[in-house]
Amino acid sequence: MRKKLIAGNWKMYKTTAEAVAFAHEYKALASNAVIEHEVAVCAPFTQLAALKEAFAGSAVCLGAQNMHYEEEGAFTGEISASMLAEIGVDYCVIGHSERRQYFAETDESVNRKLHTAFKHGIVPILCVGELLAARDVGLHYSVVSEQIVADLVGIPYTDVERMVIAYEPVWAIGTGRTASPKQAEEMCKFIRSEVTNIHGIDTSAKVMIQYGGSVKPENAKEILGQPDIDGALVGGASLLPADFLTICGS
Ligand code: 13P
Repeated sequence: MRKKLIAGNWKMYKTTAEAVAFAHEYKALASNAVIEHEVAVCAPFTQLAALKEAFAGSAVCLGAQNMHYEEEGAFTGEISASMLAEIGVDYCVIGHSERRQYFAETDESVNRKLHTAFKHGIVPILCVGELLAARDVGLHYSVVSEQIVADLVGIPYTDVERMVIAYEPVWAIGTGRTASPKQAEEMCKFIRSEVTNIHGIDTSAKVMIQYGGSVKPENAKEILGQPDIDGALVGGASLLPADFLTICGS
């Protein structure tokens, strides 16, 4: 039985004071709730150290939203994996479509980041997903297949088994237009079959595959009820403690 991971992706929202206030409110609300899933918050870099402290003693794990693939160097404005590991970051979102779209992230850089994350004991949440134009012409499976194959080059099965892959159709992100549970399940199942092709069924049965894109308290239960969907990567609805808690308890 695979566990499910609900991860909030806060993107570029919240000051550190707001982040700490979220943590306290979430912890207070969660103390009266039954949450069977694993929970993580992927916050902006400047909030990570304060959140580590604020979430201490709770079951909430900490994630970053990006990292550089080099160990260190003259890369002004960048953050390395060892800097994140030092804070005690558990997860790092890698290859989010917003980074592919606005910051020229490629499958090659994504692949290098995955290698570096594993080296530092950080579990990557690898994001893949097609643009609307690709889905409209029926190319969504081939786009996602190409991403999976290129992003996982050289990653040993022992690492793939403990990573997270998030299917995030770009047309469903921040648009309120959620993929139907059937569309989300079909693609997550397809991603699992792609992993089977690369590493075999023992590995694909273990890899955690999330859905992301307009996940809300109202639709979380049905999405999380699909057999190949092992959790959710939640943007907008992870910013409010009560909404996020409802999704975590779904
Ligand atoms: P929304 O939940 O706001 O659509 O964002 C999804 C996402 O991009 C999570 O990484």
